[in-house]
Amino acid sequence: MSDNVTVLRHAVADHHLAYVRDARTTPAEFRCRMKALAGLILSEATRDLTQRPTEVTTPLETMQCQTLVGRIAAVPILRAGLVFVDPLLEIIPEAEVRHMGMYRDEATARPVQYYNKLPDSDPPATALVLDPMLATGGSAVEAIQALEQWGVDDIRIAVVIAVPEGIARLRKHCPAVRIFCSACDRELSDQNFILPGLGDAGDRLFAT
Ligand code: PRP
Repeated sequence: MSDNVTVLRHAVADHHLAYVRDARTTPAEFRCRMKALAGLILSEATRDLTQRPTEVTTPLETMQCQTLVGRIAAVPILRAGLVFVDPLLEIIPEAEVRHMGMYRDEATARPVQYYNKLPDSDPPATALVLDPMLATGGSAVEAIQALEQWGVDDIRIAVVIAVPEGIARLRKHCPAVRIFCSACDRELSDQNFILPGLGDAGDRLFAT
């Protein structure tokens, strides 16, 4: 595995992942397990965010604490990326959320962008792209290029499952971007589905 990929090693994450992979899991349970999993992945993806020393006075005395410095943007890729938003805001309530609408054309597997309201100035210090699946990597590359154009220096992507093909595409087009996932699966099918994967995350999350 290359330097820019972190595969979460966590017993609780593995447990939830087993349920989200299981075809028998209902949408209600799928959502609940995905949120728990997202929280664990995001905890890892934000472990080394930039800090600054801050003086804090407790009820008893004054001490040095560490607080986060710089704006943090969460960038969920609609629809499936929405499942990461609540877990991210639970650990970083100050984060801003910049939705990006994209779906993969079923015939070509190329991403089609349908919503992007990123401003063209005043970028945040860090952007976290949120999407459960990194398959061909086409959607991720397009989202990351939009963030680079906005001027974001520190771009990371949090996914539940990646595959070598998607990781390779990101490494080629966005070599500085770090990938955090709970599993790296075997391969893409002829139809560009992740194998063994978990099926269509958006459909399973939203019961469609
Ligand atoms: C899925 C997934 C990613 C994309 C991954 O979205 O959530 O956004 O495909 O594929 P890629 O790496 O090959 O680009 P989908 O098109 O199913 O849209 P949805 O989230 O609205 O269901």
